[in-house]
Amino acid sequence: QVFKLEDYRPNDYLIPLTNLTFRLSPEATIVTAVLTIERRDGISAAAPLVLDGDGLTLRRAEIDGKKAKPADLKVTPDQLTILKPPSAHRFQLLIETELAPAGNEALMGLYRSNNVYCTQCEAEGFRRITYFLDRPDILSVYTVRIEALRDEAPLLLSNGNPVDKGDLGDGWHYAGWHDPFPKPSYLFALVAGNLGQVADSFVTMSGREVELGIYVERGKENLAGYAMDALKRSMRWDEEAFGREYDLDVFNIVAVSDFNMGAMENKGLNIFNDKYVLADQETATDADFANIEAIIAHEYFHNWTGNRITCRDWFQLCLKEGLTVFRDHEFSADQRSRAVKRIAEVRTLRAHQFPEDQGPLAHPVRPRRYREINNFYTATVYEKGSEVVRMIRTILGAEAFRAGMDLYFERHDGEAATIEDFIKVFEDASGRDLSQFALWYHQAGTPNLTVSSTHNAAAQEFTLEIEQSVPPTPSESRKRLMHIPLAFGLIGANGKPVAYSGVEGASVEDGVIHIRKRRHMVRFSGVAERPAVSLNRGFSAPVTLSVEQKADDQFFLARHDSDAFSRWQAFNTLLTDVLIAGFRDILDGKQPVFATRLTELAGNIAADETLEPAYRALALALPGDADVARDIGRNIDPDAIHAAREALALAIATANRESFARLYDRLADMAAFSPDSTSAGRRALRNTLLDYLSLLPGGAALAAGHFQSATNMTDRASALGALAHRHHGSPEASQALAAFASKYASNPLVMDKWFQIQASVPGPQAVDTVRALTAHAAFSMANPNRVRSLIGTFASANQTGFHRADGEGYRFFAQTVLEVEKRNPQVAARLATALRSWRSLEPGRQGKAREALLSIASAENLSADLRDIVERTLA
Ligand code: ARG
Ligand code: ZN
Repeated sequence: QVFKLEDYRPNDYLIPLTNLTFRLSPEATIVTAVLTIERRDGISAAAPLVLDGDGLTLRRAEIDGKKAKPADLKVTPDQLTILKPPSAHRFQLLIETELAPAGNEALMGLYRSNNVYCTQCEAEGFRRITYFLDRPDILSVYTVRIEALRDEAPLLLSNGNPVDKGDLGDGWHYAGWHDPFPKPSYLFALVAGNLGQVADSFVTMSGREVELGIYVERGKENLAGYAMDALKRSMRWDEEAFGREYDLDVFNIVAVSDFNMGAMENKGLNIFNDKYVLADQETATDADFANIEAIIAHEYFHNWTGNRITCRDWFQLCLKEGLTVFRDHEFSADQRSRAVKRIAEVRTLRAHQFPEDQGPLAHPVRPRRYREINNFYTATVYEKGSEVVRMIRTILGAEAFRAGMDLYFERHDGEAATIEDFIKVFEDASGRDLSQFALWYHQAGTPNLTVSSTHNAAAQEFTLEIEQSVPPTPSESRKRLMHIPLAFGLIGANGKPVAYSGVEGASVEDGVIHIRKRRHMVRFSGVAERPAVSLNRGFSAPVTLSVEQKADDQFFLARHDSDAFSRWQAFNTLLTDVLIAGFRDILDGKQPVFATRLTELAGNIAADETLEPAYRALALALPGDADVARDIGRNIDPDAIHAAREALALAIATANRESFARLYDRLADMAAFSPDSTSAGRRALRNTLLDYLSLLPGGAALAAGHFQSATNMTDRASALGALAHRHHGSPEASQALAAFASKYASNPLVMDKWFQIQASVPGPQAVDTVRALTAHAAFSMANPNRVRSLIGTFASANQTGFHRADGEGYRFFAQTVLEVEKRNPQVAARLATALRSWRSLEPGRQGKAREALLSIASAENLSADLRDIVERTLA
């Protein structure tokens, strides 16, 4: 079935009140739902009420307190139809269903993870609990009662505020919860189990006290401190940056070990993948700390952007996700280093969203069609969705943007809104016309800007010729011209901005060229010397650039651009260009050589004390194999790319061995561990240097020493990575891997790192390594984190291993995806997207990747989730 945006219409019925009672038991939980149903004005009493279900068993149905007659109902596991609802405007429907949470391995609806009952309802999991109008425009006030055996589940949580609790005899007890804010069913949550609590409190800007609780497996309470701190900082930040205050008496977070995604923003009861809650220096890396901070913030920020204002339908998913990602990005930028954060965001966008936008799974930020909504929780909806919001701020300026956001909260609080509503508030607040800009929501594909420049010294005129094109994407062959805000700078030989007296050919405001036509000749007058042009500063628009620019200018910008992002970009472009040239050399049977001025520049950046260490670490991190493949675009031979990259890394290490070694020593941290971004930046730089130094003679011993003396997981995992990747099969690598595994055997989240490191070791042996690891005691096909760490890493972060020329990587992958799918279709479908760029491979690998996709497509009883991905990938 294909769902279409234009088919939206409100349901005939509303459910203003929802009353749920759960009697919990692993194999037979009884759910009693008492729904107050209202027929909308103007709808005939003859209109049947059609409720969604998914694999449900109905035990009982009553209408207005009377048992429903069989002739009044039509019941299937996936639908409950009340054929002749009462003629009254309002009536009551009681529905009793029976569930088996222990056997629910899809992890949607009510399931049990590690003896904890928990729920995941977004997008359509509520219908696995009871029959309902399971769509986001049905807003209901929920009252929930949970009954459970006290020994099994002393803790009983749901949305909203606690109202009562008590004993029921026979070892049973109950708790009641009430959420006064009407919400869609996807925000419903329940947790019950025996968990440890970390408690704190927060006083909101208007002086209300909120009780905060983070619930984790008993014995792990000491690992929740960082998450709690991040939560309080998020609450404060949303007040300061957006004027948003928390609205309930309690805010709870629960960490569970089996979770399909990162976390979920259920009203007042966020449920998290434990990987994004638990951390200390011994077990979590700096990247883990940063992720925890970002995701805690993200889910908290959803309270306003997602919960108070929700989505009319799932086509509007980016309304809450793109906006909330933008908000969490801004939060992290304020808490850490803005420049470093921006570079990291852009790297992520290019690594995940660009290939999506440039391949068979491309879709607009606001899609118009879907078969399976779970497959639209994508980098496009989230990350490109965030970039679109950022562009609105760039176009409007910070003040008008904030006024638009204020208007959004004022106008749409309590509603299920659309992207049109969102755009309108910014038009109304700023008086600007955003109709052309709105195409960013509606049109898929990464726009490209071709830019060339000329300087006429006699006329003192500098001209930028800019042309936009938007490539065709599935089902959108003709594209309209977009409004692209292109931030830029003209830089003189002294490194200072070049002044100009006038500009024509495009509107230029505050350092931003507004591209609206196919072609602009942007003429700057009064420009005496030829400037270097810095383009797309701060990554003002998510586009690709084809710039005719001299290498001299790139070197100049990599040294002098005052925009930190663009300075990083200039160096990164230089690296990418030489890697592409090196790739061609290798295909021609030549060994690539790299210019001294490039390897020297790497050394200069490493040693430049005016730059933050974290920034230097990002600059020195070479573009990955997949980044280079994406920029080459077609006829990819991953082995040749990898060889070029190895050669460049070795050239940089060799040219800078002494200065890198000195800096590496100097950065050794003597102070007590702190997860703050400055300390993390120093570790990042030192570990980047270690990676280079480990390529040189004595490198294995150096990395082994780093591993043994490490006092935190960041250093330990970096050293293990250097050993496993750079010295694969060496005694040092084998010993370190064994030592790590025996030390952390009982900590699944740490073992994930061990799986990841091994799954990403390049080379033809990787398939066998990964296959063997699926039999490891710490691995489980039922746990999404394990599957992603081992199989996901292999397929998306190991270009030479996964794309092994004989196709064995693909065959193993296809089998594994089908095995995962038996339990968890959603995780399997996500995994399968790793094959989305198969058409950019060289013909031999392309054929083998296609066979693997076809073998999945022809499997019996394929889930809707996986079928949708595989069919679109092959189309
Ligand atoms: N709304 C969640 C978040 O981004 C994601 C939940 C997605 N779940 C799913 N089953 N598709 O914060
Ligand atoms: Zn979200």
